[in-house]
Amino acid sequence: MTRITTVILIVIMTSLVYAESGYSLWLRYVAVPDTVLRNQYRTSATQIVVQGSSTTLTAISSELKRGLDSLLTQNTPTSTTVTLDGAIVAGTPASSSIISGLGLTLDANKEAYRIVTMTVSGHSAMIIASQGEVGVLYGAFHLLRLLQTNKSVSTLDISEKPKIKRRLLNHWDNLAGSVERGYAGNTLWQWSQLPGTVSPRYTVYARACASIGINGAVLNNVNNSSNGQILSTNYIGKISALAGALRPYGVRVYLSAYFNAPQEIGGLSTYDPLNAQVITWWANKVNEIYTAIPDFGGFLVKAGSEGQPGPGTYGRTHAQGANCIADALAPHGGVCIWRAFIYDNTAEADRMKRAYIEFKALDGQFRNNVILQAKNGPYDFQPREPVHPLFGGLLNTHVGMECQVTLEYLGQGIQLVYMGPYWKEVLDFDTYQNGAGSIVAKVIDGTRNGDTVTCISGVANTGLDSNWCGHHFHQANWFAYGRLAWNHTLSSDSIASDWARMTWGNSPTVVNTITAMMAGSREACVNYMTPLGLCGLFCMGTSYGSDHYGPCPDQNNYPAQPDWNAVYWHKADAAGVGYNRTSTGSNFVSQYYATVRDRYNNIATTPPEYLAAFHHVSWSYVIPSTGRTFWNELCYRYCIGCQYVTNLRTQWASLNGLVDVARYNVVSSKLATHQTDANTWRTVCLNYFDNFSGQAITSCNTGVAAPPEFRRPEVTLTSGKTLRIYDMQGKIVRSLTVKERVTVSRMGSELGKKLPPGIYIARQDVSVYFKIMGLGR
Ligand code: GCU
Repeated sequence: MTRITTVILIVIMTSLVYAESGYSLWLRYVAVPDTVLRNQYRTSATQIVVQGSSTTLTAISSELKRGLDSLLTQNTPTSTTVTLDGAIVAGTPASSSIISGLGLTLDANKEAYRIVTMTVSGHSAMIIASQGEVGVLYGAFHLLRLLQTNKSVSTLDISEKPKIKRRLLNHWDNLAGSVERGYAGNTLWQWSQLPGTVSPRYTVYARACASIGINGAVLNNVNNSSNGQILSTNYIGKISALAGALRPYGVRVYLSAYFNAPQEIGGLSTYDPLNAQVITWWANKVNEIYTAIPDFGGFLVKAGSEGQPGPGTYGRTHAQGANCIADALAPHGGVCIWRAFIYDNTAEADRMKRAYIEFKALDGQFRNNVILQAKNGPYDFQPREPVHPLFGGLLNTHVGMECQVTLEYLGQGIQLVYMGPYWKEVLDFDTYQNGAGSIVAKVIDGTRNGDTVTCISGVANTGLDSNWCGHHFHQANWFAYGRLAWNHTLSSDSIASDWARMTWGNSPTVVNTITAMMAGSREACVNYMTPLGLCGLFCMGTSYGSDHYGPCPDQNNYPAQPDWNAVYWHKADAAGVGYNRTSTGSNFVSQYYATVRDRYNNIATTPPEYLAAFHHVSWSYVIPSTGRTFWNELCYRYCIGCQYVTNLRTQWASLNGLVDVARYNVVSSKLATHQTDANTWRTVCLNYFDNFSGQAITSCNTGVAAPPEFRRPEVTLTSGKTLRIYDMQGKIVRSLTVKERVTVSRMGSELGKKLPPGIYIARQDVSVYFKIMGLGR
């Protein structure tokens, strides 16, 4: 064995046994293993030339040094002049006489950058230049990414600029430390230690954000007004210290503001947005914030939704509410991001229609610094749901898109689901707002309507876990969200490939396996949870034991809020399943432009993926594109969804020994649970729907009887416990104590004789439920 081979082997072995925690995310900067390539890179990275000493320029210089030293196993010299071939020169025309002397054409956008190879002072050099220092930082990360992914850097001429102006993470972090819908530990923000102690972790967070172009963070949970203290003077001091740690990396701080703050924090008797004292309070509070944090981004507000205070308390509209706060922010250049997640159930029976009805009526009434932030769909981050009609519907309002990076409804911290394909699906959806080609991405980035106030947000998946995101693969969702926010034309596959190379290594086997695992993982999740346009089948609330993780297709215990019940969403009965939202039903389809409306209005042209979202589909309806009946297709999709997860385990096992042991083991054990839970989804849902379809559950091949594990074993009721019987509207029609142990089928047929004709759901405990056909009078 040659010496070189021995050294290579030692490097590989060391990296495999070294306990990786995932803390470095995709910025691991592992030495380029191919020595030929590494030597080639070294000739293009002989010195780092950064003139100037601002905090951002210092961050650029130290990031380049950290990256190059580690990737190229060298001690890269830093300099303020170009003295060697292969220099890397980074800066702005204002900060660097070298850059200003090059006469480069640079975009006026301070986040845009160029990377070009050219000759400087007689030496070959790589230039990273921008009109803004943060733009240079973005360029530096781009260059490092090229090295991390083993791309050629010998001749470069790259021009990049972000398509969307505000690219935010929304942290649903509570001041007390917990994170709503967080699956990676407690909040990153150490409020009790701020402002005195500024955790070094904030810098790692900011580096990660900057490396993918995220330029803002809403620090606190929008959904919990008990965090009101965030606007107190005490907290503003803490936030200012935190903002100081993020600022060098171009990450601006935003806050969730609670609409009742003038009363709650300000001690006023009202929070009416038209009240003069309230208006003055907001102006003063905003002035106080900007004095402490001059580049403060603005407020995110959830008002009049899910119990949060809002303008409706005083009979004011959402526009009046938003404008009051926006007016306070306007002199400072801040924005008021107003959430469209409003679903007043007195307004309209079909929840999918509510936000559009509310905000379409207010189109044009919002100030120019208000952005209406709509979730990707009109319901709530389901594995798949129709695209929000507000993206096409609002013509005179700035609309931002809210994505959920944390996987509330897609397996939370356990299941391996890559969201790139999901967000691409939404961004590429054609609204037909202004004829063909009016895709959501062009509405959001402003190109469709010449809008310059643009914003995209991702509900963050970060926490104090050593790997930041709970699941090693969920780092990919943070990464993909940022990359798409910067450039929505990137393909989800190319993003996955970059992430896999940067996070796991460049070996073709590793990259190919990991990207293959990721590629179909979201579709698999849709298939084993809510295929064919179903949605809302998740357990919710304490009595159901699981919150948006497991399946509870029979859930029906919120009579006052029907849309919190699964049965409201799927409407299964003997005829079929799904919500008729066509012109013969709720007419939700009318909220889309004609081309889309007509497509969904006709079952024959509705894509299978959306069938039950728009139609009450007969169990025997034959899906034209597959030739299977709806029931068989349902069985098939649940089955292949689970098969995908089984394959994930096999694929991952093939990487045993090719990736580090520590991360390998964590992912392996998560995949085992993932498989169990996917199978549970399939079994629970198929057995539940089978009550209505009355047809045999088939396996992945139509006509082949499903294996026994698809069937739930006969369940026995416990004596002494209550059994509640609900009608299909969620009303409890009977409640009784079970006298003796009895099987559900016997109990069902006995009770059926006593109940009026119709379908009922009986439930005892979380997992014991069954359907009863009422046969009596
Ligand atoms: C969902 C989620 C809540 C969240 C809400 C929101 O309903 O379950 O936790 O607060 O969305 O987006 O505000």
